Amino acid sequence: MRKKVIAANWKMCKTPDQVQPFFREFLPLVASHDRDEIAICPPFLDIPAALEAGKDSNVAIGAQNMHWEKEGAYTGEICGSMLLAIGVTHVIIGHSERRQYFGETDDVVNLKLKVALELGLIPIVCVGEVLEEREAGLTEDVLRRQCLRAFHAISGKKARKMVVAYEPVWAIGTGKTATPQMAADAHVLIRAEAAKSFGEEFAEQLRILYGGSVKPENAKALMAESEIDGALVGGASLDPKSFAAIVRY
Ligand code: PGA
Repeated sequence: MRKKVIAANWKMCKTPDQVQPFFREFLPLVASHDRDEIAICPPFLDIPAALEAGKDSNVAIGAQNMHWEKEGAYTGEICGSMLLAIGVTHVIIGHSERRQYFGETDDVVNLKLKVALELGLIPIVCVGEVLEEREAGLTEDVLRRQCLRAFHAISGKKARKMVVAYEPVWAIGTGKTATPQMAADAHVLIRAEAAKSFGEEFAEQLRILYGGSVKPENAKALMAESEIDGALVGGASLDPKSFAAIVRY
């Protein structure tokens, strides 16, 4: 059995003063929840407040991005060792918004993934097709390419902590969710790619999350799919009650 991960992606939302009130309401709602791993990925600036508010709880704190170098002249960037130094455990890599608005390529995703794994962070690597690709019947090709290039030159031993999130771009923030079956089909393909890169046994253990308009109303049906090992939640994770309802689906 793969333990599910329910992760929040706050994107560019909430100021540091809004973090503690969120946790004050959220933590009691999930206090006895040990069925799944829970992670919250706030903006960088909110991370210290989240670490403080989530201290000694069952909620891990992640970042939404990191640079691929260990340090250096990269104005405005944050590297993995900085995250690690303050107690961050998870990091989202290659989110479609990074790919779309900040020019992140498959090769950049690969570099970041390598470094995150070397540092011992738990990377949540995002893959997913845009609407035009789905409509053109290219979903499988796109997922294969994104996985192959993201996993390039990484050993199964190194990749052990990796989590993948399947996020069809047309479902992100749109209210359109992939059906559980659509998601499961994509997950099977991603798992097969992982098997090619890292071996069958690795692929069997790999946790593949679904992301894209996950809400309290659809979480149960999605999580019931044996191929779906958790969720990456954007909009619905901003409200403590709604995110708790997803965690407790
Ligand atoms: P959404 O975002 O839940 O708001 O669709 C998901 C994501 O981008 O990770």
